[in-house]
Amino acid sequence: MTIVSPTISHRRTEPQSAAQAPTPPPMRVAIIGAGRGGTALLDVLHQIGTIEVVGIVDKNPTAPGLRRAQELNVAVYDQVPDLIKNQQPNLVMDVTGDPTMESVLEDQVPSGTDIVNGQTSRLLWLLVQYESTLQTELLHAEKLAGIGSFAAGIAHDINNPLQLILGLAENLVEETDLNEVHLQARDIIDAVKRTTAICRDLTSYSRRTSLRHEGLVSVNAKLDEALKIARYAVALQDIEVRKHYQSDVTAKGNPDQLLHVFVNLITNAVQAMEHQGILTLETATVGGSTQVRVSDTGSGIAPELLNRIFDPFFTTKPPGKGTGLGLYNIKNVIHHMHGTITVESQVGRGSTFTLTFPGETSQSEGASS
Ligand SMILES: Nc1ncnc2c1ncn2[C@@H]1O[C@H](COP(=O)(O)OP(=O)(O)OP(=O)(O)O)[C@@H](O)[C@H]1O
Ligand SMILES: [Mg+2]
Repeated sequence: MTIVSPTISHRRTEPQSAAQAPTPPPMRVAIIGAGRGGTALLDVLHQIGTIEVVGIVDKNPTAPGLRRAQELNVAVYDQVPDLIKNQQPNLVMDVTGDPTMESVLEDQVPSGTDIVNGQTSRLLWLLVQYESTLQTELLHAEKLAGIGSFAAGIAHDINNPLQLILGLAENLVEETDLNEVHLQARDIIDAVKRTTAICRDLTSYSRRTSLRHEGLVSVNAKLDEALKIARYAVALQDIEVRKHYQSDVTAKGNPDQLLHVFVNLITNAVQAMEHQGILTLETATVGGSTQVRVSDTGSGIAPELLNRIFDPFFTTKPPGKGTGLGLYNIKNVIHHMHGTITVESQVGRGSTFTLTFPGETSQSEGASS
């Protein structure tokens, strides 16, 4: 039997058991002001299943939050009364910082609808910023913790070219034929370049990711890069890697974070196979969305643990071996990209993690509707 965990989705909360009360309708929130504060609020509130951001307004048509809202299929307005009348929010959040907005809202907002503004909205903005810094720090901490397990792989890969350089240099001491000297010097240069490439890959992987750096990422190339990096963390020599890539599969997001997601999923998969088995990487564009699957033929995950593997610090690895932050960080990155992650697993047979991201097509369709 295949066990499917609840979809970890940016729009959906955990399913409720029959005994629980039915979920109340989502709180309808309108955001006034689409500058940095409005954009950050939109990003955070959009991830919470019990909140629906019904619209955002800004007089400035180039305000960044308006573009973000279009990507998320949230209605955009240039006039406050239009937003209030059309969307009938339960809560209006004013992040314009404009003192005259207070009286505008008092005139426009019907009684029964709450308004958050002034110092309260500044406090919210500070909390949102704080939360985003915490998430970045956690991601970085987990990445650095993981780098420790890379040491053996790095030592092995650097030792090979070093041995070659030593052998060539010993020959050169005795060599009198100038042609031969040139050839061997060239081999030394190549070997040094190989070690430099290893150091470059890893230092760029371990650096702090810049959250501002977002764009259209080639998913196939990122998976290949991740496989190269994961090789330092886990032994891949007895693993058969199967790639089923559709061409030109892309996802919108931060390339460093996506690389980190793939390295973590591949590392988990190889660890679950105890270094022997089949790792399958698949990419596809399905109905305008991007799909990535990482499958292994490893230990699988017990049904009672499926709901816990995305929790922070949940690990079945011995103390000192795993932080239990890998999947938790992956989930946060994927939520930030407005994607979903699901897992199917059979104990003793293996697991498949499926990531789905909104594609460029579906996003631009959303923007025009
Ligand atoms: N492909 C997989 N197959 C089987 N179990 C898995 C797989 N991926 C994750 N798990 C389970 O989920 C747990 C949490 O994974 P997560 O990546 O968050 O932390 P970790 O791998 O234990 O620690 P770290 O990522 O710091 O090495 C793992 O300890 C393991 O029990
Ligand atoms: Mg892990």
